[in-house]
Amino acid sequence: MFRTRVTEKLGIEYPIVVGTMMHISDPVFVAAASEAGCLGVLASAMYKSEEDLKNAVQQVRSLTSKPFAVNLNLFPARVPVDNAAYVEMLIDAGVRIIETSGHGIPEQLVPVLTRPDVTWIHKCVGLRYARKAESLGADMVTVVGYENGGATGILDIGTFVLIPTVARSLHVPVIGGGGVTNGQGLVAALALGAEAVIMGTAFLVAEECPIHINLKKALLEATETDTTLILRSVGNTHRVWKNKKAKEIMQLESDQASGDTVISAASGDNNLLMYQSGDIAKGTISCGQGIGMVNEIKPIKSIVGDIISEAESVIKGL
Ligand SMILES: Cc1cc2nc3c(=O)[nH]c(=O)nc-3n(C[C@H](O)[C@H](O)[C@H](O)COP(=O)(O)O)c2cc1C
Repeated sequence: MFRTRVTEKLGIEYPIVVGTMMHISDPVFVAAASEAGCLGVLASAMYKSEEDLKNAVQQVRSLTSKPFAVNLNLFPARVPVDNAAYVEMLIDAGVRIIETSGHGIPEQLVPVLTRPDVTWIHKCVGLRYARKAESLGADMVTVVGYENGGATGILDIGTFVLIPTVARSLHVPVIGGGGVTNGQGLVAALALGAEAVIMGTAFLVAEECPIHINLKKALLEATETDTTLILRSVGNTHRVWKNKKAKEIMQLESDQASGDTVISAASGDNNLLMYQSGDIAKGTISCGQGIGMVNEIKPIKSIVGDIISEAESVIKGL
């Protein structure tokens, strides 16, 4: 029922990309997403050396024979990785689906990403970036609207406008998301012209999601009003769960604290500590407005199964 150019080209059963998530999209999580019939996306920025990343790729392969992608992070990072070296290594290791996300696409990466045997997906938040990615040779473009968990950019365009605007303008298939958590969202995104959805927030409380149970329980209680934007003052806007740490960062930004102070308050190390320790005030976690519709801890396979059956019944009921 849900065959599209995206499912055909990527060789996946369902038109669902489980969005890459820093400190979360490890081999176990990614393989579970792929095994459930979606595209799992390994977060290369979690690995500080090519060797570590290569081991992670091998670990995914040991857990699934289904397709998966690797994300290259183009956002500003406190400890930048060498994406050119990473992509060469990934190609040598046989990875053939690469997702890039973030500010600007370095020209030096384009010849590798546009190799005929590589499928390149670029993720962005606006028409102008989507057009640029298509003009550089991206095979698919993912767009995420303002509701989404994680980077939101500066354009603040909601998903309901962004998907059809981009899908009408591009020739390549569009993957759309931001606020999609269930079968209703999947059907809506396809109706708007997307050929697959991307979802992150919906999987934050998945059994395989490697964050502490305290954090999952707190997220289960969150509603659509419990997210906020931080880091706009340093040009790296992110939508996160509005916990104590996020409020501290908001206060620093409204007090016009220096960029360094804001960035160090939002350090990824604190986030990782929170994920591992369960101290839910220690760091921040990216989180979309859809969190209000996420209310049960389940394995990824059941989340996906429920999304697909709901989508089928939504279509029948229309
Ligand atoms: C906890 C979390 C971490 C994320 N980390 C990244 C990341 O490192 N790189 C990236 O491109 N997107 C990241 N994202 C964005 C997701 O890949 C995806 O685009 C987004 O979650 C889709 O919107 P939704 O959260 O409304 O479903 C993250 C999202 C979440 C919720």
